[in-house]
Amino acid sequence: MNISGKTKICGLIGDPVEHTMSPVMHNAAFDKLSLDYAYLPFRVKPEELPQAVSGLKALNATGFNVTIPHKVAVIPLLDELDPLAEKIGAVNTVVNDNGVLKGYNTDASGFLQALLEREVEPKSMNIVLLGAGGAARAIAYILSEWNARLTILNRREELDWAKAIAANIRKDLGKDIEVFELLPAHLAAALEPADILVNATSVGMSPNSGISPVPAQLMKSGLVVVDIVYNPVRTKLLQDAAAAGAVTVEGLDMLVWQGALAFEKWTGKKPPFDLMKEVALSELEKNEK
Ligand code: ATR
Repeated sequence: MNISGKTKICGLIGDPVEHTMSPVMHNAAFDKLSLDYAYLPFRVKPEELPQAVSGLKALNATGFNVTIPHKVAVIPLLDELDPLAEKIGAVNTVVNDNGVLKGYNTDASGFLQALLEREVEPKSMNIVLLGAGGAARAIAYILSEWNARLTILNRREELDWAKAIAANIRKDLGKDIEVFELLPAHLAAALEPADILVNATSVGMSPNSGISPVPAQLMKSGLVVVDIVYNPVRTKLLQDAAAAGAVTVEGLDMLVWQGALAFEKWTGKKPPFDLMKEVALSELEKNEK
């Protein structure tokens, strides 16, 4: 990478940022397309978020990603919001259009793209979604926009997060979502008619990679199983799913798609998806050591 006086700056704001795959993915993609851009990680404490955002604008950055814990807090600091990001209530990508900062949510559109790429169309499908956190909220919204029928299973007995997701979607899209506690009996009943299962919890993430949120005997062929966990790449859930003949979609695909869609917004170029995936994978392997 050659930094010149013309180099355009992109980056990531979050805390922590040490383990992010984004700099290697984006810088490799810029290089591959011979684009004079550079992508940098910025660790930003919550109390310094306003200064960081106005600083990036003042420095004329082309755009930036936003990660934990800033995805919601960044919204009032932006000038414009894409309707999908507004409805979800979270932003992971910002574009600086001549001093106008516009927020997008490519986590949700990246999730959708990972499905569509595998020729899985969520339209009218029965979907079981595990979890009711930030990731689940974005996924529930985009799936509902696609007219999927959703059941959310959440560990919290109160079901307050899941109910809030359902109420929001009911209000915006007029669609009903069923909500149950994440118990084996509910899981078995919900999976019976299911076409797609999505794990949007952190269960199975390294170092707890030996566990799955779903008993292996509930897996069936014909089911599409999507895991948002990308570390390890082949989670126990995905291994059990594949062993039962289910179609699997890796969290790494979603991760790379959210980056690829951000890349496209900043550069206007078609992202080199395969290369971005390859470098993200080798970075993941490095981090594991
Ligand atoms: P993210 O932004 O990645 O979605 P989050 O907002 O902290 O992270 O949400 C994590 C989700 O994973 C929550 O729904 C959480 O369940 P609770 O609502 O019960 O806390 C879910 N989760 C985390 N660990 C879990 C576990 N061991 N079993 C079931 N669900 C779990």
